[in-house]
Amino acid sequence: MTKASAPGKIILFGEHAVVYGRPALAVPVTQVHADVEILDADSAGIWINAPGVDLQAELNTLPSDHPIASVIHNFLFLSRQSPSPTSTGSVRGLTPLSGGEGKFPNLEVNITSTIPVASGLGSGAAVTVALVRALSSHLNHPLTDEAVNAFAYDIEKLHHGTPSGIDNTVVTYARPVYFVKGQPIETFKVGAPFRIVIGDTGISAPTKESVADVRRLWEGDKARWEVVFDEIADISFAARRVIEEGWVNMLGELMNENHALLQSLTVSSPELDRLVSAARKAGALGAKLSGGGRGGNMIALVERENADEVSSALISAGAKHTIVTQVS
Ligand code: MEV
Repeated sequence: MTKASAPGKIILFGEHAVVYGRPALAVPVTQVHADVEILDADSAGIWINAPGVDLQAELNTLPSDHPIASVIHNFLFLSRQSPSPTSTGSVRGLTPLSGGEGKFPNLEVNITSTIPVASGLGSGAAVTVALVRALSSHLNHPLTDEAVNAFAYDIEKLHHGTPSGIDNTVVTYARPVYFVKGQPIETFKVGAPFRIVIGDTGISAPTKESVADVRRLWEGDKARWEVVFDEIADISFAARRVIEEGWVNMLGELMNENHALLQSLTVSSPELDRLVSAARKAGALGAKLSGGGRGGNMIALVERENADEVSSALISAGAKHTIVTQVS
């Protein structure tokens, strides 16, 4: 039996602007995770159990663009094409399984996840990363982190339009990441640990849609929105310095400014705004939406002594649940 796990993630600063080449900061959230367990099966086929999404099926009965099926199909295809143990081969479109019966292993694949779906916590990327890692070790086709990340990015592109790659990167490396699309991965140091409360609106909001809406806005008036992306970039840049130096008190205001710019990009929502202002009223040092927006999660910077108060205020303002996480 082989097991693999991958954490959730939050974006601290720079979502959406990151799609347009600006920097963003994201950190793993280890309290929530996707877990995959693979066993050799007695009966022919690859049997997938994912009770969280009500899925129990043999691989070939699923449409080839099914999010879980596409990971397995593409992994099997890739592992046949590139026997090299640290292959960085990548997925280029969906590749149906071909080749004679009996050539594929008989497997039972069990997938569970505690990461809320479509909420900005990176659930899709985490399932992909855990699944590809479990397959690679069970089928003895080791992959470097770089190869896992490239694979997961290709899968994100199949399902999410034009993602920046930040979600798969932070989930793969499970470390704080200062991310600029297309550039080598940079991690950042945390000068003084700080605490974040994550509040979930409970509204499922596919990132693909908010990213597509921002693209429409940008296409309508590139000069105007480039200025907004630059302002967000300045915030991300400053936030990295502030975090590295441990000047935690300055982070809150940067969050508030970033939230206002995200509102101007139309990716907030009344529910997110309600949670953001409830957190601030309860004493958070700053708050903003996190991820694609429109629903999903918001984050609030808190001091140790007011984390509970902010969590309760978020629940009273309609959050379905909260997670307190320490960034260190
Ligand atoms: C989603 O977690 C973050 C966005 O910036 C989209 C992306 O970077 O692909 C909204």
